[in-house]
Amino acid sequence: MQRFDLFATPFFSGSLGADTDIIEQALNEFRNIATPLPPDAGGSNVGGWQSGGIKLSEQYFECPHLFQKISNEIVKITEISDKPLRFNSWVNINTKGSYNRRHSHLNTNLFLSGVYYLRTPEGSGDIKFWDPRGHWVHGMKDHKFFYNGNSYLTYTPKQDDLLLFPSWLDHEVDEHKGDEERISIAFNVAYDENA
Ligand SMILES: [Fe+2]
Repeated sequence: MQRFDLFATPFFSGSLGADTDIIEQALNEFRNIATPLPPDAGGSNVGGWQSGGIKLSEQYFECPHLFQKISNEIVKITEISDKPLRFNSWVNINTKGSYNRRHSHLNTNLFLSGVYYLRTPEGSGDIKFWDPRGHWVHGMKDHKFFYNGNSYLTYTPKQDDLLLFPSWLDHEVDEHKGDEERISIAFNVAYDENA
């Protein structure tokens, strides 16, 4: 007998090997011109600062060095090299006490979502990914046996980590407890079906 995890959720993580100085420079320029999302604009952040790129196309965070490296990783893991990838990206700056509510990036045009961690100082919270099978599973014996009854799994990010996951997967970020800013760059990826 062999075990098959039917409809398992694809999730990817690892160090990207990007030059954080180049990204820091792009970020500093972006911070001067970007308008943070207003609190009622549907961003996931509570406190902190989230750039408008998630909603306003003219404010996407651009950094060719970073997105070329991310593209290369996506091509490696998916063998999607025949289709041009399109990114929209935004910056999350978490100050002490801020966090990101549980949310997904639900949009049928998207292929994957992801996040790159530029700064993860002491006290940075974990990111949680929620079991997409739904809450009714969580009281069942098989779930307790195979998944220890967990309704979410956590990942502790470190600087230069890249995570990729399906856009529909619910996630949230713990409260940031450190004094220094925790900075991540989040993005959605789409590709052109007809390319
Ligand atoms: Fe998100």
